[in-house]
Amino acid sequence: MSNTPPSSGHAGSAAVAARVERKWAAVVVAIILLLVAMVVFTGLHWAMMPPSRVETIDPTTLHVSGEFIESNLGSAVETDGSVTVRIVAQQYSFTPQCIVVPANTPITFRVTSADVVHGFLIADTNINSMVEPGYVSTFKTSFPTSGEHLMPCHEYCGTGHEGMWAHVKVLDRAAFDTLAANARRLSCAQ
Ligand code: CUA
Repeated sequence: MSNTPPSSGHAGSAAVAARVERKWAAVVVAIILLLVAMVVFTGLHWAMMPPSRVETIDPTTLHVSGEFIESNLGSAVETDGSVTVRIVAQQYSFTPQCIVVPANTPITFRVTSADVVHGFLIADTNINSMVEPGYVSTFKTSFPTSGEHLMPCHEYCGTGHEGMWAHVKVLDRAAFDTLAANARRLSCAQ
């Protein structure tokens, strides 16, 4: 009898433990629900989504031939009026350094890296992606108004990372078309 724990005390501590466990379980469920709500909100409101497919490219021959040769970089007007922008990221700059696109137009960005993993982000837009050597990152968007956006590399890529950024200049469609009439590939980099 002396070594039997008092029954009321034992039941009491078990009840306390059960209450604390339920409380923590509720906290965990609340955190999970919050994270799911954030995923749904960013998916619907900001159109954030994972890449839809994988497209590979040889990073060692980018400058020699193919889509990402230097003369093919920048903005190109497609036959349907949409614009494709091709960009190469390398330590520690983007080519072109200044990108020009028209407002209210479907834009497709195609970006790849010549060396290491870089980041591709255009401030005040839903564009936020990684750029990996060996892969082409594709992003479709459109800019509702003209203006300027910063395009910093936001993936640590080496000692010069913080100096790696470009500009995106959004012009109204008429001003863009005037420029596009004189060039096969457009950029505002001098
Ligand atoms: Cu490129 Cu950081």
